[in-house]
Amino acid sequence: MDVKYKRVQGLVFSPTGGTRHVCERIVGTMSREMNVPSVIKDYTLPAERETSLQLSSDDLLVWATPVYAGRVPNKMLEYMKMAVCAKDTPSVAIVVYGGRSYDDALAELVSIMKQSGCKVIGAAAIVARHVFSDNLAVGRPSASDVASLDLFGHRMVDKLLLHIFSEPIVPGDAEPTKYYAPLKTDGTKASFLKAKPVCDNSLCTSCWTCVNVCPMGSIKPDEKYPRFDGICIKCAACWRMCPTGALSITDVDFLSHVAMLEDNYKGNQPPLFFY
Ligand SMILES: Cc1cc2nc3c(=O)[nH]c(=O)nc-3n(C[C@H](O)[C@H](O)[C@H](O)COP(=O)(O)O)c2cc1C
Ligand code: SF4
Ligand code: SF4
Repeated sequence: MDVKYKRVQGLVFSPTGGTRHVCERIVGTMSREMNVPSVIKDYTLPAERETSLQLSSDDLLVWATPVYAGRVPNKMLEYMKMAVCAKDTPSVAIVVYGGRSYDDALAELVSIMKQSGCKVIGAAAIVARHVFSDNLAVGRPSASDVASLDLFGHRMVDKLLLHIFSEPIVPGDAEPTKYYAPLKTDGTKASFLKAKPVCDNSLCTSCWTCVNVCPMGSIKPDEKYPRFDGICIKCAACWRMCPTGALSITDVDFLSHVAMLEDNYKGNQPPLFFY
């Protein structure tokens, strides 16, 4: 096999691991089939956002992000715009969403990648369990989703080996100006921007897992219990990873939005691939 590439670079933000799982699968397939090493940069935690990637035309990039409010996560936007300095690097854009919709997120990611010097040759929108709910898109990505991810990785390798660098057409607005506005069960706007997790101190063992997984560095160890004192993006990392279930969001608008999602969406959209 005539391979001129030196490595497959994964790049991912993934507070609860769903996006990372998808990214690893595609990176793994491409790296194995091209017989080149792979490396993943995960910028979920603040320390990883102090550095950027310099990539050349013999690198391959797979960049995966979760969808938040129909776009790439707002609080990551600034970092994403400077995360990669590429020179015609063949690249794959992936968005992972929880079964409502990915709206403009894929087009926005492709646009950021192109402005960073990437040559986007493939893109995908994949459903994974919605972190807000235990009932939405459960079991996704399924075994058949994973099989199609593998096939997609294979297709990307085919394109590279055939020197086909065409850019896929992806749906959505590449320069979106609005975010999806979450709704309550009665159809009115849900306002939970300022909501934060609350701790049931009787369940907290002061293990500080929550402190260590918060992408915003907004949880501090305070004597015995965590203190939430910064921006909360509702990423769910702390409450999903707390080993005792001590954390939850009790905000009524947030809970009504989750109920609305569960009432109206099944999370059964197939994986979509563009290349
Ligand atoms: C703040 C926030 C907003 C979200 N907005 C959407 C959305 O607009 N559409 C959707 O289908 N899923 C949405 N989701 C679900 C996530 O995209 C999905 O759960 C994803 O798998 C989370 O990625 P992770 O497991 O890598 O953290 C949202 C999740 C969060 C935390
Ligand atoms: S992860 Fe849970 S148990 Fe551990 S410190 Fe945080 S709230 Fe307490
Ligand atoms: S405090 Fe908010 S931002 Fe931090 S991990 Fe918890 S949900 Fe995510």
